[in-house]
Amino acid sequence: MREMNAETAGLQHSSLGDEIVGRINRLGQISETPEHLARVFLTPEHRAAADLILAWMRDAGLHAHLDAIGNVCGRYEGERPGLPCLMLGSHYDTVRDAGKWDGPLGLITAISCVADLHRRGRRLPFAIEVTGFADEEGVRFASTLLGSRAVAGTFNERVLSSKDSAGISMRDALAAFGLDPDHIGAAARAPSELLAYVELHIEQGPVLEAEHLPVGVVTAIAGATRLAASLTGMAGHAGTVPMLLRRDALTGAAECITTIEELCRTDDGGLIGTVGYIHAMPGATNVIPGQAAFTIDLRAPTDAHRKRAVADIVRQIEAVAKRRKLVLQVDVTHENRTVPCAPWLKAQVADAVAAEGHRVFELPSGAGHDGMAMIDIADVAMLFVRCRGGISHHPDEHVEVADVDIGARVLLRLIESFQPGPRSAKM
Ligand code: GLV
Ligand code: MN
Ligand code: MN
Repeated sequence: MREMNAETAGLQHSSLGDEIVGRINRLGQISETPEHLARVFLTPEHRAAADLILAWMRDAGLHAHLDAIGNVCGRYEGERPGLPCLMLGSHYDTVRDAGKWDGPLGLITAISCVADLHRRGRRLPFAIEVTGFADEEGVRFASTLLGSRAVAGTFNERVLSSKDSAGISMRDALAAFGLDPDHIGAAARAPSELLAYVELHIEQGPVLEAEHLPVGVVTAIAGATRLAASLTGMAGHAGTVPMLLRRDALTGAAECITTIEELCRTDDGGLIGTVGYIHAMPGATNVIPGQAAFTIDLRAPTDAHRKRAVADIVRQIEAVAKRRKLVLQVDVTHENRTVPCAPWLKAQVADAVAAEGHRVFELPSGAGHDGMAMIDIADVAMLFVRCRGGISHHPDEHVEVADVDIGARVLLRLIESFQPGPRSAKM
């Protein structure tokens, strides 16, 4: 047992990094396959991770439960029960062949910070809630931020009928997980219950490393648009149909993809586009592909720029489809505006960084985060922690324990000095 007095507070803090990294490693072993980390929404491994996080929350002195969409929710009461909360958190789902830090670092750090307060018997003039969002990545159902949208009350019930690649609907997957798809609304929180939402996350880029800084203060989360495109031509015999008479959907998709890449490459305003998934049907060596489906992920520094780029891309791939006599269908599967971090809250994150002895450095987030949904019910801020080589969405993703510890100390300081801002005062 550790001593609970001010003299040993530094010692307690220095152990936070080790505790967090130990748990990151444990959570990183809960995966669809042992070789490639994948913990996708509503799968058995997703459930096993939720159960482990619930246990950690309870150990930390939080009252914890699973909400209606599968978010892991913990609450640490303030000086008296029922006070509005400062919400902390991040997501516990992963991409495929993921790193183990994206999401879990923010969630586990928040739990360890509360555990530290609890060990010291410290209660604050507000409650703290920690949320492990169930789906931020959107790997399974081509629809992202499902957990945080449910909390923000903006979950779109239409996505319940969307199907994964095995043909399982989200409705059935929720039921198999033990949740009631007709009661997602129960996860929604009122703005009056939240004072702010703060997320710690790995940077997922190389900027902090280049600045020789362990942490950075996020200015805004860049907006994103995701599209699902499908081209339909005519399947046929690979040995008999002459090249000029083919309506090959896969070569059409290939031309669309290089068109998208060219458009982004030649854009001087920071447009970024990715085709991360493609599926050709019927999928046999000796059959001309009659159908091809692919995704498009587009991001730009401003919403206006991104919207113009989406329109340009759709126009250009329509032209490719027309020339090749293919039928094109494009659906928007995700659209999120750029979310600015609230100046008053960002200033408190910066103060905590400075108080821990680090240079305050601001940077935007090119990656998406749950704050993009939480902005509908609370002001949002983020603290980035340096990651090695800026590598993310890759098994080599890595954060040094010293940086984990610094991130945790900054978050703890922020929590302990937190002052509600103008938005919460109005509620
Ligand atoms: C989430 O990781 C994203 O795609 O930005
Ligand atoms: Mn991610
Ligand atoms: Mn993430």
